[in-house]
Amino acid sequence: MMELHDPMDEKYYRRVPHGPTLMKKFLRFHIRKADSEVIVAASPNQIVGYALAYVQANPPVFTRRRYGYLSDLAIREGFLGRGIGKRLVHEIKTWMLSKNLHYVELKVHSKNSGAIASYKKMGFQEGHKLMRQLL
Ligand SMILES: CC(C)(COP(=O)(O)OP(=O)(O)OC[C@H]1O[C@@H](n2cnc3c(N)ncnc32)[C@H](O)[C@@H]1OP(=O)(O)O)[C@@H](O)C(=O)NCCC(=O)NCCS
Repeated sequence: MMELHDPMDEKYYRRVPHGPTLMKKFLRFHIRKADSEVIVAASPNQIVGYALAYVQANPPVFTRRRYGYLSDLAIREGFLGRGIGKRLVHEIKTWMLSKNLHYVELKVHSKNSGAIASYKKMGFQEGHKLMRQLL
């Protein structure tokens, strides 16, 4: 998952050498948090995919403020295209419904055409365009 950012976005995201250790800490933090959910897909001997989502809130001017943010979704190579991503998203949506969240949102890189295609097949529709500029 972290490797994906290198070719797509090296000007914006550059990884630190101890990324895997930090990622473990980051995931542990979310596992303990009530408003976050981490779900893994596992084969008998390894984790083959995971999803991380948490609650976000819009400004108080809206009636239904709280929504779910799907922050991470990744399936291990060799296990792609077997319906695992779809199943994890289904479980994440179930968790979001249990939290009475209004909708689910995610961010995907414009060059990540495979993920965009699969999200569309899972029912996601494009909403905003993310605009950015290096400073
Ligand atoms: C995006 C990703 C999570 C999808 O997971 P997956 O387990 O391979 O997807 P699934 O097998 O559940 O497929 C779900 C649907 O998307 C379709 N799909 C999956 N990969 C696709 C691709 N590369 N191109 C087109 N459609 C694709 C499947 O055919 C399926 O459609 P269906 O329900 O009509 O049969 C996976 O490709 C991945 O981990 N990619 C690398 C990490 C990444 O880019 N994550 C997203 C970051 S925002």
